[in-house]
Amino acid sequence: MGKLRVGVVGCGNISAIYLKNCAKVFRNLEIVALADLVPERAVAAAAEYGIARASGVDELLAAGDVEAVLNLTVPRAHYEVSRAILEAGKHAYCEKPLAVDFASGGKLVELAGARGLRIGSAPDTFLGAGLQTCRKLIDDGWIGEVVGASAFMLCGGHESWHPDPAFYYKPGGGPMFDMGPYYLHALISLIGPVVSLSGRAGAAWKRRTITSEPRYGEIIEVEVPTNVSAILDFAGGAQGTITTSFDVRGGTSHAPIEIYGSEGTLLAPDPNAFGGPVRLRRRGQADFAELPLAFGRAENSRGLGLSDMADAIEKGRPARAAGELALHALEIMEGIQVSSDSGARYAMRTSCRRPEPMPLGEPARFPDRPS
Ligand SMILES: NC(=O)c1ccc[n+]([C@@H]2O[C@H](COP(=O)([O-])OP(=O)(O)OC[C@H]3O[C@@H](n4cnc5c(N)ncnc54)[C@H](O)[C@@H]3O)[C@@H](O)[C@H]2O)c1
Repeated sequence: MGKLRVGVVGCGNISAIYLKNCAKVFRNLEIVALADLVPERAVAAAAEYGIARASGVDELLAAGDVEAVLNLTVPRAHYEVSRAILEAGKHAYCEKPLAVDFASGGKLVELAGARGLRIGSAPDTFLGAGLQTCRKLIDDGWIGEVVGASAFMLCGGHESWHPDPAFYYKPGGGPMFDMGPYYLHALISLIGPVVSLSGRAGAAWKRRTITSEPRYGEIIEVEVPTNVSAILDFAGGAQGTITTSFDVRGGTSHAPIEIYGSEGTLLAPDPNAFGGPVRLRRRGQADFAELPLAFGRAENSRGLGLSDMADAIEKGRPARAAGELALHALEIMEGIQVSSDSGARYAMRTSCRRPEPMPLGEPARFPDRPS
């Protein structure tokens, strides 16, 4: 197995887990160079993870030994950085969201296709043990025909803990762009693509007070919807609902994702994590039962999508956390706002392949397909 030689642009908060996993977990990846707008961050990360080169972004993109670049910059920089990566003739893999608007995301997927390069995007949590176990249960018929789903990401917002939370309430922020990709990649992997949707978006509060340090007491003017809901019509005929909200202050009792089938209901785990719990209740059963996870990667495996993309390049197959999936999710997120503004149903222009399930790393631990 060859190693894909990867450069990383953006050495902030999330880079640590990627660098750790690329060094220790994913044997088909080798990080060869780091870059950041703030050079000291790249230098510090290179020293910590034993990476030979820390440089400016241009130098990293010009390096002949860099085959792919991991874009871990902030969302508003994703488009420009990914475009520069592709224009430099390198494969790109980007943190979520693919871009902050559908048109820019579409340009990236088009550019990659025109150049014969791959573009992939987080989230890759749907490739983890929890959601892959759900996928196998659905594919093997444990809940029968999927007829519906609900997804909830409900919290009170990030101003109580994040040191600098204002960006969550500015364009490109809000609960759907921040957390929607986890839920949408999971739903598309479990049920398939969406053909149309109806959206509603609002905000309970126009101003928020920061209660975390060091900005305690500062006021944030809310410029984006903080409660975003949609009805999703899936290509296979199922109907789902999704609500993402920063307006829920008293907690919630909803499972993050519930999938309803003709023969049972599946409660999927938090799609912002790689593990479980996975709970199933078949028609006629008195209660939900927790099932063992049938796949590996229950721990924080960020980088799994990039490792899969490297394998896909080597084998000439489609990658799972591919640009087409991220673009479809991005169109759903933007489409919800368009529908909310117009009051009309939004017809999707993109579709995507349902990503292939992961290979079973170890034997499935639940019984064979039910009759
Ligand atoms: N922090 C998390 O827990 C988390 C979790 C999942 C996903 N993400 C995603 O990861 C991405 C990065 O988040 P983060 O928390 O690491 O942010 P961060 O602000 O901590 O780090 C981003 C880094 O990118 C650098 N940067 C910004 N623009 C750049 C440019 N044009 N060229 C080169 N470097 C540039 C910044 O200097 C900074 O060091 C975001 O898309 C976010 O949605 C973050």
